[in-house]
Amino acid sequence: MAFPAGFGWGAATAAYQVEGGWNADGKGPSVWDTFTHQGGERVFKNQTGDVACGSYTLWEEDLKCIKQLGLTHYRFSLSWSRLLPDGTTGFINQKGIAYYNKIIDDLLANGVIPIVTLYHFDLPQALEDQGGWLSEAVIDSFNKYAQFCFSTFGDRVKQWITINEPGILALFAYDLGMFPPGVPHFGTGGYQAAHNLIKAHARAWHSYDSLFRKEQKGMVSIALFSGWVEPADPNSMADQEAAKRAIAFQLDFFAKPIFIDGDYPEVVKSHVASMSKKQGYPSSRLPEFTEEEKKMIKGTADFFAMHYYTARLVKYRENEKGELGICQDAEVDFFPDPSWKSVDWVYMVPWGIRKLLKYIADMYNNPVIYITELGLPQKDPAPLDDTQRWEYFRQIFQELFKAIQLDKVNLKVCCMWSLLDNFEWTQGYSSRFGLFHVDFEDPARPRVPYTSAKEYAKIIRNNGLEGCL
Ligand code: BGC
Repeated sequence: MAFPAGFGWGAATAAYQVEGGWNADGKGPSVWDTFTHQGGERVFKNQTGDVACGSYTLWEEDLKCIKQLGLTHYRFSLSWSRLLPDGTTGFINQKGIAYYNKIIDDLLANGVIPIVTLYHFDLPQALEDQGGWLSEAVIDSFNKYAQFCFSTFGDRVKQWITINEPGILALFAYDLGMFPPGVPHFGTGGYQAAHNLIKAHARAWHSYDSLFRKEQKGMVSIALFSGWVEPADPNSMADQEAAKRAIAFQLDFFAKPIFIDGDYPEVVKSHVASMSKKQGYPSSRLPEFTEEEKKMIKGTADFFAMHYYTARLVKYRENEKGELGICQDAEVDFFPDPSWKSVDWVYMVPWGIRKLLKYIADMYNNPVIYITELGLPQKDPAPLDDTQRWEYFRQIFQELFKAIQLDKVNLKVCCMWSLLDNFEWTQGYSSRFGLFHVDFEDPARPRVPYTSAKEYAKIIRNNGLEGCL
């Protein structure tokens, strides 16, 4: 089971989840600093990312982990408010630049390719105070921030992700209100935020394309999350349609405008429009792109960056009462097959990744695909010998192999989530996604490899599954 020569084996992290140093050296607050400091049990045990893995001061320890694994790629995110404390280029924090310069230089010196995410959920609080992603003004701020990053780091960084999981962000932060700013806007906020996120991404891609690409010769994309779905009753037309809608609402919602034609899928537009009508709205709750915007959005990704964690069965559920919400608009119910094992929300369905890859290859013209996240958590306390979790990862790698060899999917890179156990958003430190265990009680935050890390290192060394457990 040898992977194609040059296949990329990576691991990923995100600034707020690992860095700590939340107010060190002039960093401005992000929405996650505000949210966690407000308490109120919205995060497990009111935990915060104030210190997290301490990567702001312990980068060298992270680098040791990266070298121990033998990674070819390391994906990390920049903290927008560490670089631009109030979110704007009016004031630039040189210490923030120095921190990321060191990471990038150390990676390159060790032959590791950086994949850099500009924005992974941690909006500067100053921009949230002006309306955050519900406001169009943020698009311009994001574009200026992106230009600043391209011009500061783009001489060395060639693989960029503009925005991490716009779908999860829009849904959790602005529709359900579970992520900061913590205010629900059921059935409206998510669409509004998503609309601005897509436009912000497209603007940043154009900035790269027109101002930096010629000289820097890099690639820019956006990281999209999607679970895989299967119709609960494969013989039911209604369930089959529900499965299509489930993918349309979570993946194609972003991928179709960006990769195909600048506009949302028809099925999404028609469902939100008819539900909005039923609810007495004067127009659809889903905003529309102008013709000019469609042209601006179309074709703004140089590769397809996707995340896979899990799968669900889906069933058609009529929204008879006209309840407000995105799942309600899609008229789908998600639930697991009773035979699937799970850790938290992650039901282990290794074959789902092959199906998702095939779907993307078929729908999006066989693009170059990077898996920029893929993982399985362990509940705290987690055993260092995680052979069981490894068994799942091994099956996942087999599925990737089949996707490449049998389905001819153009998969080039796979990044595991995550390099380290870290701050898992509202679940705090109770959910451990790391290849390395981190002791959050110990001020030195020691990193210790799980069995999965040792096995992953073998995969990387052999460029395939030979010799693994
Ligand atoms: C996010 C990560 C998160 C992971 C596991 C992804 O949705 O990008 O930040 O930790 O999933 O939940």
